[in-house]
Amino acid sequence: MEFVTVDDIDIPALGFGTWLMEGADCHDGVAHALSIGYRHIDTAQIYDNEDQVGCAIDESSVARDDIFLTTKVWRSNVAADDVAPSVEESLRKLRTDYVDLLLIHWPSDTVDHDETLRALQKLKDAGKTRLIGVSNFTPAMVREALQVTDIACNQVEYHPFLGQPDLLELARANDMMLTAYSPLARGRVIDDPTLIDIGDRYDKSPAQIALRWLTQQQCVSAIPKASTPAHREANFQIFDFQLDSDEMQRIHDLDAKQRILDPDFAPDWER
Ligand SMILES: NC(=O)c1ccc[n+]([C@@H]2O[C@H](COP(=O)([O-])OP(=O)(O)OC[C@H]3O[C@@H](n4cnc5c(N)ncnc54)[C@H](OP(=O)(O)O)[C@@H]3O)[C@@H](O)[C@H]2O)c1
Repeated sequence: MEFVTVDDIDIPALGFGTWLMEGADCHDGVAHALSIGYRHIDTAQIYDNEDQVGCAIDESSVARDDIFLTTKVWRSNVAADDVAPSVEESLRKLRTDYVDLLLIHWPSDTVDHDETLRALQKLKDAGKTRLIGVSNFTPAMVREALQVTDIACNQVEYHPFLGQPDLLELARANDMMLTAYSPLARGRVIDDPTLIDIGDRYDKSPAQIALRWLTQQQCVSAIPKASTPAHREANFQIFDFQLDSDEMQRIHDLDAKQRILDPDFAPDWER
């Protein structure tokens, strides 16, 4: 495993995403992920699976403090008075006293980010989370957030078909992690000829090449989701080879500004 280090905390560069995994699919998926070596789990209040994630962690033989656990505050809970109770509810479901990273899931258009960030900072001060951060924030929003408090992370869509040069530069300049969500472009990477060609050199799949490309970049972690056990295993087998600089560049060149996740409440991404 390789790590991204933020605030002296080593964060496994490869995590396990759980969006759209519910019930036994989520519980068994997290249990299996932990059993094969994953130590970084990503969930969110809105995923409706914190209970299953918490149960799987609780039942596993892996110590809680060997796991890097992220959850995210949903849009309806970002007002100052709502943050703490909603996080207490998350902690109860997750069967833990703290998370490792607490994120604002999406920028709000009704509540000032300052207000939510201050509430997150209070929770950090109270030991309810080790790090705080944001998700789906644009470069301007990250700069504004950094004026309010130290944020450790921006979690955004990032894969070979959607570059994030501005956010990466900002993360590196401010000792932050950029977590790549939808790192497999929600499965679309598997048909890409460049990723297939590079994969053939290492006997790796296009998905493994995409994850290697992400995790080889400074400050970047990736959190692929996989309901299929074989996918979970394959995604973890990416630390036994190294892409060279030409291969890294060939994958950077696939950037087609192809954003997959763009709900109607998304921010103006160019801002
Ligand atoms: N902060 C946010 O707003 C936000 C938004 C989106 C996602 N996320 C986080 O990021 C995580 C990952 O993103 P995502 O779920 O959107 O997409 P993703 O990880 O890019 O892709 C998941 C898809 O790829 C397939 N897959 C996984 N491993 C594979 C492999 N080795 N070979 C072929 N196909 C493979 C999965 O199939 P199977 O499931 O059938 O195995 C699933 O259909 C989420 O689960 C969530 O934790 C956060």
